[in-house]
Amino acid sequence: MTDDWNDYADGWDDNSDVRRYASCAFTTLDEHLDIRGKNWRSKRVLDFGCGTGLLAEKIAPHVEEVVAVDTSENMIAVLQEKQLQNVRAVHGDILAGGVPELENGFSEFDLICASSVCAFLPDYNGAVAVLAGLLNKGGHFVQWDWQASDDDGFGLTLKQMKAALEAARLGSIRAERIFEFKSDEQVMPVLIGAGIRNTE
Ligand SMILES: C[S@@+](CC[C@H](N)C(=O)[O-])C[C@H]1O[C@@H](n2cnc3c(N)ncnc32)[C@H](O)[C@@H]1O
Repeated sequence: MTDDWNDYADGWDDNSDVRRYASCAFTTLDEHLDIRGKNWRSKRVLDFGCGTGLLAEKIAPHVEEVVAVDTSENMIAVLQEKQLQNVRAVHGDILAGGVPELENGFSEFDLICASSVCAFLPDYNGAVAVLAGLLNKGGHFVQWDWQASDDDGFGLTLKQMKAALEAARLGSIRAERIFEFKSDEQVMPVLIGAGIRNTE
């Protein structure tokens, strides 16, 4: 195992669990927001921690543009090779303000998604606050993460998720178990966390 995401880029899309996670994320996003509905056709979406774009490529046909950003150069290279029409693939760390080419127009998203990203970040609460600030008023933040069994376990607990969404001053907060992965040995639940940037 390595902790460099670049090492996972080749073959990421061949992993059936990874593909299934993205499919479940998209299905539950559609149930949550009706993303395939006509109201979304003029909307801009940020896929934060997009990897090779497995979620971005499902969202893109239904919206105006998906900006897909990731700190892994190799993940972004795989996404760029797909040449998706309305997906702008960007390598950089927006949490550190390290994406100069995006300073113009890199805010005012109608939706920010983070699929299996937040639990890997060193400062999850800080990240949600930064991302919430990139939303349009009334814009949606939606994340999916493995559910941790306790505060020290891998993933996020429901309590940690609710606290971060509240601290980012998002409204209409939702945090719950949404799907799960089963193997012979264990069940791995996944949480959805969502909120809306207040309009005032
Ligand atoms: C488990 S992968 C998920 C990838 C993709 N969302 C998917 O579901 O296939 C986590 C991704 O988060 C990215 N990541 C980690 N920290 C990041 C950060 N600060 N900004 C953007 N992406 C980040 C990694 O490079 C990696 O591609």
